[in-house]
Amino acid sequence: MKDEVVDNLISNKSGVYLDCTLGFGGHAQEISNNLDESGMVIGLDCDQDAFAYSKDKFKSNKKVKVFNSNYVDFENILNSLKITEIDGAIMDLGISSFQVDHKSKGFSYRIDSDLDMRFDSSYKKTAFKVLNSYSENRISDIIKNFGEERNYKKISNSIVRFSKKNNMNTTFDLKEAITKAISYKTNMNKIFSRVFQSIRIEVNQEFQNINKMIESLPKRIKAGGKILWITFHSLEDRVVKKSTFKLDGKEIITTNGKKKIKLISKKVIRPSRQEILNNKRSRSAKLRGLTILEC
Ligand SMILES: C[S@@+](CC[C@H](N)C(=O)[O-])C[C@H]1O[C@@H](n2cnc3c(N)ncnc32)[C@H](O)[C@@H]1O
Repeated sequence: MKDEVVDNLISNKSGVYLDCTLGFGGHAQEISNNLDESGMVIGLDCDQDAFAYSKDKFKSNKKVKVFNSNYVDFENILNSLKITEIDGAIMDLGISSFQVDHKSKGFSYRIDSDLDMRFDSSYKKTAFKVLNSYSENRISDIIKNFGEERNYKKISNSIVRFSKKNNMNTTFDLKEAITKAISYKTNMNKIFSRVFQSIRIEVNQEFQNINKMIESLPKRIKAGGKILWITFHSLEDRVVKKSTFKLDGKEIITTNGKKKIKLISKKVIRPSRQEILNNKRSRSAKLRGLTILEC
């Protein structure tokens, strides 16, 4: 979605743009390539590995500043740079392929590893804690609401029985508990994937954080600026859709006066056919956005 991001985000080539989910710097690079020498990209990632990679990647690019920070703390970063308002922001939600494949993080049901699943290794809550200390009802709600897995009751019951007997220590323990709960022939990988996703969303408080950002970002965007969200699954898209639609037409008071929030479009923006052909993973990407207007 690089072209769609650049086309929709950049309203001023000398502006300041916030990449809330820097990852390995793909979007930050593309945005910086389309700015002139006085433009700036501020990139944030709470994952220490992603931050370290991007810090090195942009070490000789004066237009990109990177921070190892949770995006919910973006206002502190802007304040520390003495920036009141920015020209736009982007959030590319979910998990990077590096995080999925990284052995020690526990995001993938294909790799036997500790149950961690934290984007930021300083978070107190791990997948181990969720699976070994939450009640059956709470786990059941997580699997239902953050994974949309219809066998949520049977799976949460099996997880709790497994943990009580023997602590659930690894991703393969979790797989075993899920497998025990399903008595009919089906594509188990889809079920694993939905349950793992739901635990990851709980560990990282993903939906709470997205909603906080939808509320707080508009107040720091200049009139004429935009905020974009890229999602990769329907649940994430629903969270973004619901919260951005609620803001459509609202007036807000900022340090630079009264402004109005508008949806960029009621319809989602999809990747081009060519991008889907080049990168199959991009086919599920959806882009939504808000624009901030002078009142
Ligand atoms: C889909 S990846 C972004 C990929 C990136 N756009 C690129 O071009 O490489 C999402 C990133 O958001 C980061 N992330 C998730 N939650 C975060 C949070 N609350 N604060 C900061 N970064 C976060 C993850 O660590 C991950 O690196």
